[in-house]
Amino acid sequence: MAETLHIAQGSKEEKYRELLPQLVALLAGETDLTARLANTCAALKATFDWLWVGFYLLRDGMDGEALVLGPFQGPVACFRIAYGRGVCGAAWARNETLLVPDVDAFPGHIACSSLSHSEVVVPMHDATGAAIGVLDVDSVKLGDFDEVDQAWLEKIAALVIEDGR
Ligand code: SME
Repeated sequence: MAETLHIAQGSKEEKYRELLPQLVALLAGETDLTARLANTCAALKATFDWLWVGFYLLRDGMDGEALVLGPFQGPVACFRIAYGRGVCGAAWARNETLLVPDVDAFPGHIACSSLSHSEVVVPMHDATGAAIGVLDVDSVKLGDFDEVDQAWLEKIAALVIEDGR
């Protein structure tokens, strides 16, 4: 297992490009999904200057399925998000990545932290294509995420699920 990360200086594209093979090496041989999710958000948080990065996972509850807080790095966050609620619940309902340049302009945004100003949420699926949760990233900066983040975070979300149980 790779125990230290080398964090590229330069553009975010360069940071993602350097991070991906290190993540592949880091995750190799570990099949426990919680452990894979935990180290993935630690590696992302160490690489980027983000407020919050983590996973919400689909769980059955008394009120039906909800997104429940999983491994993350950053300030404490809300535990549960209902279908269609907030950016995370909307990404789950629409089954598509949502780039939100200004969270205050997103109807129903759930403000876990008043410091968060932009956000990207990537839905995650198992090998059969069934929804299993979302990867959520928050920034203190307005408009911090674009298609570059979307493309790489979708790759990373797929990688962390692969071989995870
Ligand atoms: N802002 C999110 C809630 C999760 S936290 O930001 C960690 C949303 O609207 O879904």
